[in-house]
Amino acid sequence: MQHLNMTLADEAATLALGKSLAHGLQAGLCVYLHGDLGAGKTALTRAVLHAAGHQGQVKSPTYTLAEPYQIMVNQQAIKFMHFDLYRMISPDEFIEAGFRDEFNQQTICFVEWPEKGEGVLPPPDLDIYLDIAAHGRRVQLHARSVLAERCLDHLNFAPNL
Ligand SMILES: Nc1ncnc2c1ncn2[C@@H]1O[C@H](COP(=O)(O)OP(=O)(O)O)[C@@H](O)[C@H]1O
Ligand SMILES: [Mg+2]
Repeated sequence: MQHLNMTLADEAATLALGKSLAHGLQAGLCVYLHGDLGAGKTALTRAVLHAAGHQGQVKSPTYTLAEPYQIMVNQQAIKFMHFDLYRMISPDEFIEAGFRDEFNQQTICFVEWPEKGEGVLPPPDLDIYLDIAAHGRRVQLHARSVLAERCLDHLNFAPNL
């Protein structure tokens, strides 16, 4: 499966990556965002959402655990769920909130702190690892499905990355 590594020298590069990823989005895509606090998981998700037509704010749903959005993918309105499981205490919370149902063919899910959902969180199509580097961020993208491979194909031709 496809795998890409890159350096994001500054926040503008993170935004550019988000924009490129937005071009490769497909309904049903599930993305895990790995990395410490401040690594840029929310910044990248925000860039994807804005590039996909969302005009309002994007804050990490730290207390609500999830925030729904509507975006445009291939001229179609698609539901986008942004999860931040950092404060999830037990996997039961995930089940009781009905979050499992959000992982379906119609919805795009981006998940910060997927480690907290181990055992209940459906598997990802794409794993993104963000690491704080001396200057900027290191990012690794690992496709885990054909859906994600198609998404990464868009990055291969992206300018400025
Ligand atoms: N490539 C980059 N280089 C340096 N700083 C960045 C880069 N991308 C994002 N940032 C900054 O890093 C921080 C990331 O915060 P945030 O996205 O909330 O992290 P997380 O959601 O991973 O906890 C923000 O202050 C943002 O401006
Ligand atoms: Mg965050």
